[in-house]
Amino acid sequence: MIAPSILSADFARLADEAAAVASADWLHVDVMDAHFVPNLTIGLPVVKSLRKATDLPLDCHLMIDDPDRWAIGYAEAGAYNVTVHVEAAEDPVALAKDLRAAGAKAGLSLKPGTPLEPYVDVLKHYDTLLVMSVEPGFGGQSFMAEVLDKVRAARRLVDTGHLRLVVEIDGGINADTIEQAAEAGVDCFVAGSAVYDAADPGAALERLRAQAAR
Ligand code: DX5
Ligand code: ZN
Repeated sequence: MIAPSILSADFARLADEAAAVASADWLHVDVMDAHFVPNLTIGLPVVKSLRKATDLPLDCHLMIDDPDRWAIGYAEAGAYNVTVHVEAAEDPVALAKDLRAAGAKAGLSLKPGTPLEPYVDVLKHYDTLLVMSVEPGFGGQSFMAEVLDKVRAARRLVDTGHLRLVVEIDGGINADTIEQAAEAGVDCFVAGSAVYDAADPGAALERLRAQAAR
């Protein structure tokens, strides 16, 4: 699956930018609060508007403090998947239950330096694992290949039936990096600059999809 990140899109033309990637699996929406990460992007009002402007499933990646308080609003706004950071969540198991009860899939994200192993039991309550392959906060950064060990470990846990979730990767995914991520066992690839900096975002995403399937 390919999830273009609108972080690299034109924020004044989000409906058109979503339409440009109509063949995507999910539309990745980066919510940043200038506290959990140094950058500030968009929040709930924009997600509510986007929900009306596109039929694509919205994959909301919350890079915010206190997701225990704020994440539920994104589920209620119609996000398909709501991902919170394990480094920010107070009670990630309760949070996952609340998100699912509100009708969304629950996602848990790990920063590049955060290990997987302590959170395997927590992840039993989640539908998505978002492995960050850059430090969260900005698009256009370089891919950190060292996180692929974490992807491989997650893949093994899924393939052996210990976990049941979508393994998603976010950061620095482009024509040069997607194949190694696919080999490591990623199910869903977030790509911001590689899609939206291209002259034809729809064609760029289909090229990435073909590469990942090789
Ligand atoms: C970064 C965001 C990413 C970002 C990826 O913190 O979570 O989703 O949009 O951008 P690229 O694909 O350009 O690395
Ligand atoms: Zn993201």
